[in-house]
Amino acid sequence: MNIVYHENTRTFHLYNDSISYIMTVMRNGHLGQLYFGKRIRDKEDFSYLLETCERPMTSYVYENDRTFSLEHIRQEYPVFGSTDYRQPAVDIRQENGSRILDLRYKCHVITGGKPALPGLPATYTETDSEAQTLTVTLEDPVTKIHADLLYTIFARGGILTRSVRFANLGKESLLLGRAMSLCLDLPDSDYVWQQLSGCWARECHIHTRNLEPGISSIGSMRGNSSHEHNPFLVLKRPNTDERMGEAVGFSLIYSGNFRMQAEVDAHDTLRILAGIDPETFEWKLDAGETFQTPEAVMVYTDRGLNHMSQTFHKLYQKRLARGYWRDKARPILNNNWEATYFDFTEDRLIEIASKAKECGAELFVLDDGWFGARSNDSAGLGDWKANRDRLPNGISGLSERIEQLGMKFGLWFEPEMTNKDSDFYRQHPDWILAAPSRSQSHGRNQYVLDFSRKEVVEAIYGQMSDILGQAKISYIKWDMNRSITECYSAAWPADRQGEIYHRYILGVYDLYDRLTREFPQVLFESCASGGGRFDPGMLYFAPQGWISDDSDAVERLKIQYGTSLCYPVSSMGTHVSVTPNHQVFRNTPLHTRANVAYFGTFGYELDLNKLTPEENEEVKRQIAFMKKYREVLQFGTFYRLKSPFEGNEAAWMVVSEDQKTALVGWYRILNCVNGSYTRVRLEGLNPSYCYRNAYSGACHFGDELMHAGLITSDETAGQVPSGVKPCTDFESRIYVLEV
Ligand code: DGJ
Repeated sequence: MNIVYHENTRTFHLYNDSISYIMTVMRNGHLGQLYFGKRIRDKEDFSYLLETCERPMTSYVYENDRTFSLEHIRQEYPVFGSTDYRQPAVDIRQENGSRILDLRYKCHVITGGKPALPGLPATYTETDSEAQTLTVTLEDPVTKIHADLLYTIFARGGILTRSVRFANLGKESLLLGRAMSLCLDLPDSDYVWQQLSGCWARECHIHTRNLEPGISSIGSMRGNSSHEHNPFLVLKRPNTDERMGEAVGFSLIYSGNFRMQAEVDAHDTLRILAGIDPETFEWKLDAGETFQTPEAVMVYTDRGLNHMSQTFHKLYQKRLARGYWRDKARPILNNNWEATYFDFTEDRLIEIASKAKECGAELFVLDDGWFGARSNDSAGLGDWKANRDRLPNGISGLSERIEQLGMKFGLWFEPEMTNKDSDFYRQHPDWILAAPSRSQSHGRNQYVLDFSRKEVVEAIYGQMSDILGQAKISYIKWDMNRSITECYSAAWPADRQGEIYHRYILGVYDLYDRLTREFPQVLFESCASGGGRFDPGMLYFAPQGWISDDSDAVERLKIQYGTSLCYPVSSMGTHVSVTPNHQVFRNTPLHTRANVAYFGTFGYELDLNKLTPEENEEVKRQIAFMKKYREVLQFGTFYRLKSPFEGNEAAWMVVSEDQKTALVGWYRILNCVNGSYTRVRLEGLNPSYCYRNAYSGACHFGDELMHAGLITSDETAGQVPSGVKPCTDFESRIYVLEV
C-alpha cells in the first residue's frame, strides 16, 4: 500500500495490491479525479486522463480559453455556483447570501493508519501499517473555510474510505447546506445500479435498475436510515455476476437521514454522491468551528459481487465492529417476544427459559413490557424500572433466577422514546421533539426524545446504567420503533434547527458509546422494528442487529440474501419462530426455519414448551449443530450461490478459513412434481481437498463440487421410493462438507 504525491504533476496516487485511486490538482486549484479501479502501475504523469474539449453552451473558467469547464471535468469535491451544473458535493451559504465557493488545494499530509472521527462511528486500524491516510486541505480564498478531504486506503483489498472535515478559519458565520461525504466522478455510466430496499418486515430486497440520464437516488428523511432504503449501493458492469466482473459498492457509516445518488450527464459521465441528506440538513458553522461528515466506504472489485461482499464482510466484522464480542461466536438465545408479547409473569418467563436451557440455549432475552406501566404499547417508555406487578423481584431477581438456570440474561430497551403515559414524560414534557404551537404526531403511541440535548441523553443513560450496574445483564436489545416527525428542539435557537436530525443521531451514538465503554462485555443487538436502522453506524456499537420483524423462513431468504450484499453473517440476528408464522401465517417445516436461521446469530423466538416432544428433540439437535458449526457459519467466507429473487430455489454457503469445512444451505420454496435435476456449483473450496458430504455420505474433490456441482435433485420428485421421506413445500437442506 502506498500513497504517492508526484510534485511535478501535482498528482496523488493511492494504491495497494488491488486498486488505484488517482487525482490531480488542476490548474484552477480544484482537485480533479483521474482514475479509480484495478491497480495500475505508478508513474509521474496521468494528466492525459483529464479530458477537456470545447463544447457549445458551456461556461468556461478562463478568458480566451474554451477548454476548461468544470461541467466536463471529473472532480473530487465539486462546489455550487461554478461552471459545473451537476449537483455539487458541498453548498455553503455565506453572510452576504452568496453560495458561491472555490475550494482550492492548499496542502496535504500523509499519515500511517487512520484517524478516528470525533463523535462518529468509522472503520479503524489497529496498527499504522494496516492503512495510510491522505488528508488534502482545500481552502476557499474568500471565506477561508477549509475542507479536509480524508482518504484512507487499506493495505489489502479494494477498500477506500472517505470523509470530509470542515473548519471555518474565517471571520463570518457560515451555513453548511450540503456536506457530502463522498463524490466520485466516473468516466462512463455503463453500470447497473443495485439497491437494498423494502419496508417494515420486507427489508433489504435487491432492486436493480439501469442508469439513465438524470439522477437516480435512494435516501431517508425519517431520522433513521430506514427500512425503505439501506445506506448501501452497488454499481456493477452489465455482465458482472456473483462470480466475475467489475463492481463498486458504496456504503455510508451513518444511521440518520442520508442520500446516495448517481447523476448521469449528457455525455454519459457519472457522478456518485453519498452523505447526509441535504434536504433535511443545515449546519451553522461559526468562526473557529469544525464539522466532520460521516464516513463513506467504497469497495472496488473485478472479481464479481461475492468478492465485493466478502471484502465488506471482513472489513465490517474486523475493522468496524469492536470490542469483546467482535470475534466471538454469538450465544444462542431464546427471546420471549413472539412467545408472550406483553402477557407474562416472572414464573412464566422462568418456564420458557427453563425449557430453552434444557434444549441447550445459552441466553434468555426479556423483550418489551418489563418496565413502568407497560402492559401494552401506549404506556411506560421512559420509565426504565421493573414493573413489580409482573416482576416482583425486579430485574435483579429475575436475572438471578435465569443465571441459576445456567443461562445468561438479556434485556430489551427502547431508550430514545417515551409514551405520554409515563412518569418520565410527565416530568419532562418538553424533552420530546416537537414544534411550538403545533400538533405532535405519534407512532405506536410514542414520541421521540430530543437526543440532541445532552441532559436528555444523560437522564436515559443514568437509568440504563443503573440497571446494568445492578442486575446480571449480558445482552441488550436496543430497539427504536418509530421515525421522527416535527423535528424541532426546544433547546436550540432558530438558526440551529437544521442541525437537529444530525444532532439526534450524535446523541444516540453518544449514549451507545458511553454504555458500551462502561459495560464492555455486554453484547448489544440493535433493532428498529426489525431492520429500520440496520446500518454500518449501528454495527460500530452493536456487532449484531435484528434484521427484520419478519421471522418467516421463506421471507427471510430474500432478506438475508439481500442483506449479505454488504453485511456479514455475524451481524444478522436470525431466529426460529412458531408456525403458523406471526407475520405471514405460513407453515414451514421446523428444519427449514433453522436451516435459514443458522446463517446468522441464531436463536428462538417462541415458547419451546409449546412444541411436541419430537420437535423439542429436533430443537436440541439444531442447537447442538449450531454450537458445533457457529464459528464457521458466522465467521467463514460467505458465498451467494442461487438467488431467491430469481427462482424457486435459493442457495448460499460458508467456507472455513482453512477450507476444510463448508456448509451449504439449499432451499426450495414450492415443491414441484417430477421436477428437473438440480445442482449448485460451489465456491471457495480447495480443489484438491476431498470433502465428505454428510448428507449423502459421498466424497468429492473440491474441483468437482465447484465445477460439476453439488447435486441437489430431489429423489422424491414424482414418486416417493419406499423408506424415503417425501419433500414438501418449503424444503431445505444443509450440506455439511468436511475434509
Ligand atoms: C419491535 C422489534 O423489532 C420486536 O422484535 C420487538 O422487540 C418489539 N419491537 C417490541 O415492542
